[in-house]
Amino acid sequence: MSAQQEALVLFMPSGRRGRFPVGTPVLDAARSLGVYIESVCGGRGICGRCQIEQATGQFAKHGITSAPDNISPANEVEARYAGLRSLAPERRLSCQARVEGDLVIDVPQDVQVNRQIVRKRAETRHIDRKPATRLYYVEVEEPDMEKPLGDLDRLFAALKREWKIDGLTADFRMLSHIPDILRDGEWKVTVAVHDDGRSPAQVIAAWPGFNGDAYGVAVDIGSTTIAVHLSSLLSGRTVASSGTSNPQIRFGEDLMSRVSYVMMNPDGREALTRTVREAINTLIERVCSEGGIRREHVLEAVFVANPVMHHLFLGLDPVPLGSAPFALAVSSSLDIEASQIGIEINPGARVYILPCIAGHVGADAAGATLAEGPQNSDEVTLLVDVGTNAEIVLGNRERIVAASSPTGPAFEGAEISCGQRAAPGAIERVRVDPETLRAKIRVIGIDAWSDEPEFAEKIDQVGVTGICGSGIVEAIAEMFLAGVITADGVIDGSRGDFNGRIVPDRRTFTYVLWPGGEGQGSPITVTQNDVRAIQLAKAALYAGVRLLMDKLGISAVDRIKLAGAFGSYIDPKYAMVLGLVPDCDLKKVAAVGNAAGTGARMALLNTDHRREIEALVRRIEKIETALEPRFQEHFVNAMALPNKSDPFPRLAAEVKLPEPRLASVTDGDGRRTRRGGRRRG
Ligand code: FES
Repeated sequence: MSAQQEALVLFMPSGRRGRFPVGTPVLDAARSLGVYIESVCGGRGICGRCQIEQATGQFAKHGITSAPDNISPANEVEARYAGLRSLAPERRLSCQARVEGDLVIDVPQDVQVNRQIVRKRAETRHIDRKPATRLYYVEVEEPDMEKPLGDLDRLFAALKREWKIDGLTADFRMLSHIPDILRDGEWKVTVAVHDDGRSPAQVIAAWPGFNGDAYGVAVDIGSTTIAVHLSSLLSGRTVASSGTSNPQIRFGEDLMSRVSYVMMNPDGREALTRTVREAINTLIERVCSEGGIRREHVLEAVFVANPVMHHLFLGLDPVPLGSAPFALAVSSSLDIEASQIGIEINPGARVYILPCIAGHVGADAAGATLAEGPQNSDEVTLLVDVGTNAEIVLGNRERIVAASSPTGPAFEGAEISCGQRAAPGAIERVRVDPETLRAKIRVIGIDAWSDEPEFAEKIDQVGVTGICGSGIVEAIAEMFLAGVITADGVIDGSRGDFNGRIVPDRRTFTYVLWPGGEGQGSPITVTQNDVRAIQLAKAALYAGVRLLMDKLGISAVDRIKLAGAFGSYIDPKYAMVLGLVPDCDLKKVAAVGNAAGTGARMALLNTDHRREIEALVRRIEKIETALEPRFQEHFVNAMALPNKSDPFPRLAAEVKLPEPRLASVTDGDGRRTRRGGRRRG
């Protein structure tokens, strides 16, 4: 072929380029270079998934002049598509547009197959997209007496001929629907094929004519909240997200009380299962209506949950999870039909549930691990998801260990005298002046500190109603830094009352964090019992982390990632001052948001991520903290702030920790005594 009959085509942003005969469809040129552009309709100009834009002008760096007439003019097929569905003027259908001369082609981000974006707080995460379920539009041969093949067989033959899909199966339900769908669509049909690379490819849904809508939901079932994200399986775009509190709370605030409910009530398990499934169906309905999506177009669902939620959702008995050896009914991943577990999406839709790591470390921790990828790094990463049970994963590409620690509900504001859930009016930020011991605060709902004018303007409407989990961590850490409490967690009344900031409370003292008053809300105090509750919770968490460090034979970690709602709001500095996590460079301690939910979305959009987490979970070493002899020793040391035995040199370089001093406390008879403060590392 002569040089005049060939043209140079450069695809952006991949930068792939090649020479093609004039007249080549741009889609074919892209495919031959490995630039993947989606197509549902097989180049018929129906699906619109193959859109591209021509970048015109001189591209000196690449030696290309991409003149407007170097691409064929829009044809009738594109005009028809634009009339039916809207096509931006700069966009072309690459299955129709042909190469006429040298071209620079932009593949817009919304149609790139391998670069999809999921927003996760401030960071942007790229998820390579390789969903288990894809749509295929085909034109099926009409019945012919000469060739007596059945409807389903002719459909399979068309899929093999046009899309090279072999070995297809379909369940009996599809068999009963296919003949009608083929006739309704006048032998043109779109089918959804589920192919996760393991089981045989299966037709799970079909529509007469063309259908270009395929969606999936990623669901994170937490003990306290349930979150659902609706994503397009074609573009990877998250269309809508919604959440609700877990209605199982009425059967028990924490996991163990729900397990007890199942033990005590013959119909308890069914009631809990029904409740959580109903809540999930309501959320799916909500995200679909927000996104303007019909539920029949939701073809995949992926779930993550802690072990008890996992079992209750699936209708499995959670009672064995309530005591040693904490046996799971199933720990491996599950691939089932949505209709088998009452999830109201397309009846043929498939559900994938991530594997559980251990009896106390669930599919949610697996999802968080998938999202944060400690297994892909040389750095030893500590990943902590703090809830009523802290799930802890530690390691790097060499070795990974996991455990859970029973932190109890203190970090969620429960068991704290003025504690509350994070809601408007809850104190979330605290600074204590070390001279006056007066605190300034910030509450949820007002973007100003209490000593700023805006706070005074808004406090009437919002109020100061209590202190949330992240607020209590910060309050106690600040109290420690200001000398209100000693390193062993005693509220120190020996230095005076500081104008009513430290008040006697039976045999102990209470710190008045917020005095309240006219137009200032109610008084908020931190009692000695509150400090103890936080000490117990943080000591349980730290002891679990320390056991895992022992297993790896390390005395420090390189990076810390705090996952979950609580982890997202605590200030890493205060978490470390409290000794909730081990010493680490503060720049390498970060909140990672809802990592479990991100992991679920990754598994939804890419089957390779499913295989990755399944293989990883098999090699994660599970540690049962209750059985480890050193747990108690680590726990006792971790009761001190930050810790009785472990040094915190990197924290001390950034934060001025109080000098060790003798603290005055009261003895059991209310008399004042002197006793030694603990030395910090
Ligand atoms: Fe479907 Fe181009 S491939 S419109």
